[in-house]
This record gives sequence, C-alpha cells and structure tokens, in this order.
Amino acid sequence: MASRSFYIHITIYAFVLLPLSMCAGIGGLKWVSVNLPHFRRPGEAAHLHCDYDLGNDTLYAVKWYKDNEEFYRFVAKERPQSTSYRVDGVDVDVSASDNKKVVLRPVRLRTGGLYRCEVSAEAPSFASAQSEGRLEVISLPIEDPKITGVRVQYQIGDEINLNCTSGRSYPASMLHWYINEEKISSNSVLIRYPTRKSRQGLLTTVLGLRFHLNNHHFLGGSMRVKCVSSVSRSDLDDRTSVIENLPITDLREALLLVRNSADLKQNQYIYTFLIIFVMFSMKFL
Ligand SMILES: *[C@@H]1O[C@H](CO)[C@@H](O)[C@H](O)[C@H]1NC(C)=O
Ligand SMILES: *[C@@H]1O[C@H](CO)[C@@H](O)[C@H](O)[C@H]1NC(C)=O
Repeated sequence: MASRSFYIHITIYAFVLLPLSMCAGIGGLKWVSVNLPHFRRPGEAAHLHCDYDLGNDTLYAVKWYKDNEEFYRFVAKERPQSTSYRVDGVDVDVSASDNKKVVLRPVRLRTGGLYRCEVSAEAPSFASAQSEGRLEVISLPIEDPKITGVRVQYQIGDEINLNCTSGRSYPASMLHWYINEEKISSNSVLIRYPTRKSRQGLLTTVLGLRFHLNNHHFLGGSMRVKCVSSVSRSDLDDRTSVIENLPITDLREALLLVRNSADLKQNQYIYTFLIIFVMFSMKFL
C-alpha cells in the first residue's frame, strides 16, 4: 500500500537515517546544542551555553565562533585549557568560561551576531558536530520622541513645519506622524533626514512633517498631531526571517494638540498650540 510504504519510509528516515546523520560515530558524540539569550542590552553579560552528549567519546575541544571567526577555544588536554582570541565586539570572561559555556562581558552593540559552537572528540572517533544561534543587542531609547518647530500661533494657510526626533536607540527607531489619528504616508508631506549616530553607536531618527494648515484639519475645533516612535523586532533588519519573533516592542508617543482659540480675526481663525506633552510610554519586554 502506498500509504503504508510512505509511513515505513518516514519511519526509516526518522529512526535510522536522521540519528545517523546527527552522529559522527555510533556510541560516540550524539548531538550539540547552542543555548543563548536572544537579546541583550549593552553593558549586560551574556551566557552562551553549548550542550552536547559525547556518548562514549572523549572530549577533544570546544570551539566558539562569532560570524565564522573563532573567539574561544577549550582544549581538554592543554594547560591552560581555555584560550580566547580577539574578535570585534566579543569580550570573553575567560575565568567564567569552560567546556560548556562562554560568558561575554560586557555586551556591546557590536556583540550581536551568529554564534556557533563546535565540539570535537578525541581519537579514535575524531567526531565533530556543531550548533549555532543568534544574539541580538538592543538598546531601547531612554527619552521619548520630541516634537520641535512648534510656533505659538498658526493661521489657516500657514505652513506647519515640525520635526520629530527619537530617543537614541539601537537599532534605529521608526517614526510615524499622525494627524487626527490618521497615519501620514505621503512623501510630499514627510521629510526624511539621515540617521544620526552617537559616539557609542546609538542611533537617532528625525522625521519632518510639513503641510499647510487647512480647515479640514480641524475636527470639532481641534487637531491632534502625533509622533509615534517604535523599536521592535521587525525593524531589526532583513534577517528577521531567520529568527523567531521576540516579544520586544518599545512604543512611545509625543502629542501636539491644536485648539481653535475661537478668536475670529478678519475672517481667519487663529489656532494656538496649547499642549505639547508625552501622551504615554509603553514598553513590552
Ligand atoms: C563506543 O560505543 C560503540 C558502540 O556502543 C563501540 O562500538 C565503540 O567501540 C565504543 N568506543 C569507545 C571508544 O569505547
Ligand atoms: C529638522 O531637523 C533637521 C535636521 O536636524 C534640520 O535641518 C531642520 O532645520 C529641522 N527643522 C525644523 C523645523 O526644526
């Protein structure tokens, strides 16, 4: 029967071929598994674990690589057993590291990357196996976004020319302008400025908003101009498809409320910007 042979085929694969492909030698090194934090903030420590089952093999060495560059090696028969190598952004705490883990301290922005652990066995098997995982370094902004360029008074027809500046973060914050809860996407209204980078590598995003004040902007006598800043997993970069979604989103708002001051001067309303404040800050970590 087709379905039965398919089933047997799967069974053979699952119970015979799969374990074989994972074992370098029957009875010897069985598996290697890297276990690391998905994200860390600058200044923290990161403990990267390399678990493995040697079976009846004897450990020869454990080697760690970041983006294919070796930065740590544990060789069982050597004295000292641990050696670390200079790799950009990687500071190994050698005294806290051993054949099962490496401790990186302190984490820096450049510590983010793909970490691989490679385990190899002594003679006669010389078996080796490896496993890898990604560590992202994320620095959420301390400050909320700021709206600047606000004038005390505007009249219908005046140009509104504002900037929204994010707090410093890594990766860069995404900014969005809203007028009366409507997200602005028109490039004729938005002005994108180059991202600024601090000495420590933190990024500041500036997004301009420029438009002419019109009666239709006022709903019930007021207009809300809002800037929302976010740092989230999906902004990290195009590697996101490789990694799972993490529960990290940092969302903040700065709000500008423009009220009709009710003066009627030469048939023109004068609108006064009344409040500039931060509506709320939300962090999900
Ligand atoms: C490891 O075990 C396998 C099978 O269980 C055996 O054939 C092999 O000789 C053993 N190797 C050592 C080094 O004991
Ligand atoms: C907005 O920021 C840019 C870049 O920092 C600056 O050149 C521009 O003058 C600012 N505009 C306003 C209205 O503040």
